[in-house]
Amino acid sequence: MNAHDQLHSPETDNRLSELTLLYQFSNTMLSTIRINKLTHLILTAITTPSSNLFERSVLFLRNEKSDVLQGMLGITRNQSEGLQIVGGEDPLESRWDISDDLFSQQRSDQFCSQVRATRIEINDACPLMHQIVTARNLCRSDDTHCHKCDSCGFIRSLCKGQFAAVPLVARETTIGMIVVENPDSNRPISNDNLHFLQLFANQAGMAIENSMLYNRIEDANINLRDARERLLHGERMASIGEMAVNLSHELKNPLITIGGFAGRLLKYLPVDSREHLYAETIYSEVNRLEKMLAEILAFSRKPTICFRSCNLEEVIQDCLANCTTTFEDQNISVSFTCDEQPWDLLGDAHQLKQVFLNLILNACDAMPTGGHMTLALRKPTLDRKVAIATVEDTGGGIPKDMLPQIFKPFYTTKHQGTGLGLAIANRIVLNHFGTIEAHNSEYGAVFTVTLPLIAIIENTTGR
Ligand SMILES: Nc1ncnc2c1ncn2[C@@H]1O[C@H](COP(=O)(O)OP(=O)(O)O)[C@@H](O)[C@H]1O
Ligand SMILES: [Mg+2]
Repeated sequence: MNAHDQLHSPETDNRLSELTLLYQFSNTMLSTIRINKLTHLILTAITTPSSNLFERSVLFLRNEKSDVLQGMLGITRNQSEGLQIVGGEDPLESRWDISDDLFSQQRSDQFCSQVRATRIEINDACPLMHQIVTARNLCRSDDTHCHKCDSCGFIRSLCKGQFAAVPLVARETTIGMIVVENPDSNRPISNDNLHFLQLFANQAGMAIENSMLYNRIEDANINLRDARERLLHGERMASIGEMAVNLSHELKNPLITIGGFAGRLLKYLPVDSREHLYAETIYSEVNRLEKMLAEILAFSRKPTICFRSCNLEEVIQDCLANCTTTFEDQNISVSFTCDEQPWDLLGDAHQLKQVFLNLILNACDAMPTGGHMTLALRKPTLDRKVAIATVEDTGGGIPKDMLPQIFKPFYTTKHQGTGLGLAIANRIVLNHFGTIEAHNSEYGAVFTVTLPLIAIIENTTGR
């Protein structure tokens, strides 16, 4: 054999093409950071007719949380023909690429969908899984004697005949595996090809791991950016809130004056005159604005609670007495039951009244053409130191998708609402170490307020 023959023997040609593939792979790794693209390029390169290695390849990646191998991608020879070599004539400088069209074709291919629906539980008792995951060795299907177990059964059902699997290793752990086979020609998988695959897989493991890390860093970066946006938004909202409070203060006094004069005019003007109607409109609108300002101020004020002994039953009775005319005007019947006594708790009666007034008025708003309101006070059978107050109406309830929103400030579905009533109620109840919740019954909304009775607050505040 002369020197020229030695240079061009089939063996050296083979080695050369393998080396070229490895170079191209390194160059591809350096220029592709997206894990999806990278995995497509890796599998396409080992399946493409020009590399003449394998006819089908499958990638599994390990999910550490659930400890399964999740099928990610399957490439058949048909889908790998469009591999492009780009980046110059010199094989040592070139790299792989695929068009976006081929990328999506590969993804929507039936075999790929089948692979993506496959999850293999990692079971060390299966000799094949043991070889790949624990021993981190490449493994041929006919070298292991496990035909019945569920773990390798999945791979066997994906592959038509003989197959081989190599682990993808990064930082001394198996992060996945590549399975290859020759289903079109049934050609046995040669040792040479397999050892080349091993060489390839060692680099692929690191490349995929790097790519995953990069993706994680990018996700973290996005989260950080979002958090910063939210913080800035929060700051802006705080300054808007401060401005709203100042404005409310400024508006309060002139409004009281306007309302006062409109009230006086009402007294002097003939009842059926047009001017009386005008004054009445001014009077009621000013009233509405005053209420709105009072709610905004109540919401923005720093909560200071004056804890005194007070009686929850009396608080609710007081609220009901205040709303008698509304009940009559709107044709609402009311029942209030509280079987046991006493209902003493440590709290701010004025603020607690605010809570129940808001709930009662919301229930009235939900029943503009009449209905029934049921209020009840009870103690849970097991915990005698807690009061549970419910306000229930027959107004049709709160749509399910709105339920999580209703306690948020400024959330309202009413034309003239402020959306602060429930937000204020929630804050007051929380400051009293209680909870407030809403759900729907068959006929309407049910609000449940849970408040600790005297013993618990004494313990909590005395700590
Ligand atoms: N009893 C209820 N029935 C139906 N919807 C309710 C009831 N109570 C509250 N809501 C809903 O919750 C929203 C927020 O209530 P709230 O904070 O008191 O503000 P506002 O009464 O000013 O709208 C209301 O706009 C309404 O959509
Ligand atoms: Mg309200």
